[in-house]
Amino acid sequence: MNLKLRLNLIITVTLLLVIVIGAVLTIKNARNNIQAEIASTAILAVHMFDAEISALRGQELPILKSGSFFHLRDLKNVRHLKIDFFDTSGNLQDSNRVKTSVHTNDPPDWFINTMDTVTGTLLSTSQPVFIANQHIGKLVITPDISYEIIEEWQETKGILVLLSIFFLVVNIVVYFAVSIALRPIDNIIAALTELEHGNLASRLPRFTLPELSSISDKFNIMAETLQSSIENNHHLSQQLIRLQEDERKNLAQELHDEIGQHLTAIHMDASAIKGAKTIDSAQASATAIDAVVKRMMEIVHTMLQRLRPSDLDELGLDAALKELVSTWLERNPNVGLDLHISGNFINLDDALLISVYRLVQECLTNIARYADATRITISVKEENQHIYMIINDDGNGFDHTIQAKGFGLVGMKERVEGLAGKFELQTAINEGVTIIIELPCAIEGKQ
Ligand SMILES: Nc1ncnc2c1ncn2[C@@H]1O[C@H](COP(=O)(O)OP(=O)(O)OP(=O)(O)O)[C@@H](O)[C@H]1O
Ligand SMILES: [Mg+2]
Repeated sequence: MNLKLRLNLIITVTLLLVIVIGAVLTIKNARNNIQAEIASTAILAVHMFDAEISALRGQELPILKSGSFFHLRDLKNVRHLKIDFFDTSGNLQDSNRVKTSVHTNDPPDWFINTMDTVTGTLLSTSQPVFIANQHIGKLVITPDISYEIIEEWQETKGILVLLSIFFLVVNIVVYFAVSIALRPIDNIIAALTELEHGNLASRLPRFTLPELSSISDKFNIMAETLQSSIENNHHLSQQLIRLQEDERKNLAQELHDEIGQHLTAIHMDASAIKGAKTIDSAQASATAIDAVVKRMMEIVHTMLQRLRPSDLDELGLDAALKELVSTWLERNPNVGLDLHISGNFINLDDALLISVYRLVQECLTNIARYADATRITISVKEENQHIYMIINDDGNGFDHTIQAKGFGLVGMKERVEGLAGKFELQTAINEGVTIIIELPCAIEGKQ
């Protein structure tokens, strides 16, 4: 059941409950009123007729055909009581009852039935009548609530009609008010569906209701973050493909330029040895081959180092970082660098170790390219199953609010977040750069 119908149902049930309680109280009240009013009228009438009957007892028997010495017809306005005079044979001689036309506004049976319970508690009284000590009949006074019921019904009906109108109006007003208030929900569902179908540009308008307006703000921020992170991912994967291709191209070129050349040189020297006439010229060619092979070994080592830092496997992270830093310092001799490494890096996941190495490497590359720094501090600490890294330089810094074209920093952040870690960049123009990284040692699914 939708919200509009649900709200209307709750209101309907509540109002019905109120109406029923109100009606029960009104009817109970009406019954009490009728009972009190009729009882007091009955007592008064009984007393008055008592007095009259006593007065008649001592009088001469008048010759009356109609037997109407009480003139009960004149009492037709006493509507709460039926006063009847019966002769000794039980025939009705006089009464205050008048024939009433059938009322169109007669109360319904259920109303009469509830009111009729009143009469059960009001008993009729019967008085024998004597004139000149001769029994001539009896006077019967019976409470009659029919007029009272009609009056009460008129009043109750008015209240019930008013309550029904109120009930109807409240329901209609609530239905339309809720419809208007909930209209933005259709917009929200439409925007979510668009997002689900891949339209990341889908946004919500501002709504007037503060609760819905904050939903629209949060939705728009979420959609924007989603859109930019998906765009970043696309750029990143394109960049990765580009880097891979560049790397392959460089390797192919280096193999061709360096190794190819040197192999040609070895080939020529070997041919020279084969055709050597003297031992000296053979020795000279052999020495040349030796030099070329040494050079080739260096080249292969550098290429392998670039592809995968062998120090990391052979000596561990500690030594590999020291080697990385010292090689970097050879190329940047004017910079002072403090490297602090502490903790135990043995038995840590290979992906984690290579990440720490690559993160420091990217920071050093950026510092060499942009920072113009004089002092660098690198701290790598293993503690409580976490690796904490701080890389700080005192160089130019930069405005990090401007979107950079490069992918070094974005890649670092992605790498750290991919390992469920935290990445923080602190920088401002002329205030150097500080990168703070926290990596958990236990990678999901591994120990
Ligand atoms: N240590 C630093 N000092 C000063 N500026 C820096 C530093 N590190 C990064 N930057 C600035 O941040 C920008 C983004 O760096 P990032 O490493 O993301 O990209 P890049 O180095 O330009 O390109 P790539 O790393 O993809 O080759 C750089 O262009 C540079 O302006
Ligand atoms: Mg970079």
